[in-house]
Amino acid sequence: MSAMIALVPAAGSGSRFGAASPKQYLQLLGKPLMWHTLSTLAAVPAVDRVVVVVSPEDEWFDGFDWSIPKLEVLRVGGASRAASVRNGLVALAAQGDDWVLVHDAARCCLTVAMVERLIARLTDDEVGGLLALPVADTVKRADSHARVSKTVSRDGLWLAQTPQMFRSGQLLRALAAERESAITDEASAIEMLGLKPCLVEGEAQNFKVTYPADLALARVILASRKED
Ligand code: C5P
Repeated sequence: MSAMIALVPAAGSGSRFGAASPKQYLQLLGKPLMWHTLSTLAAVPAVDRVVVVVSPEDEWFDGFDWSIPKLEVLRVGGASRAASVRNGLVALAAQGDDWVLVHDAARCCLTVAMVERLIARLTDDEVGGLLALPVADTVKRADSHARVSKTVSRDGLWLAQTPQMFRSGQLLRALAAERESAITDEASAIEMLGLKPCLVEGEAQNFKVTYPADLALARVILASRKED
């Protein structure tokens, strides 16, 4: 049977966040932010391994007591998210038909239920797919002066989230170096092979911590779950 591997790129510098340490290490309810991400993935019974990719220059990872079952660390992060994922895929030595769930370290409000929904929907799928959210707001296209040049139909528009779940061998082929410039997530690399990833409905709570206000929101969400 093929294995199910969660792969978490965490080699970003978090420059948009503007903190002294990368955002994945910021304190959130007494733990580093990505502790919450990694422990949720490890709590999914179907997930066999949780592999986090940090930068070779990372000075923070060893400073924390992670205490998370199934957790492995690879110090092979690259210059882009796609490079970190590709390096991680090579280093983790998976079988070609193993499933890999790539998940942003900074999406720390993921739940076990969201991951299980994704796995249940895709486990017999030929291609794989991703959590995503249908666009609920009206969408505007701006001109160069931040004035509306057009209202864009939101019909059929989705916002990509993670995890993104694909077969290890196919994902590695898709992330070939020469394509990297155009790649913003794993699904777009798979699309470049002419394949159509499946969109599985995610949740607004599965947002990516990008700016300081996002951290406050993540704190409220995670604290409210602890009270239940
Ligand atoms: O910067 P952004 O929030 O889009 O990054 C998404 C995820 O990719 C984060 O978990 C970040 O740590 C990771 N990343 C990486 N290697 C890079 C850049 C980003 O692993 N060179």
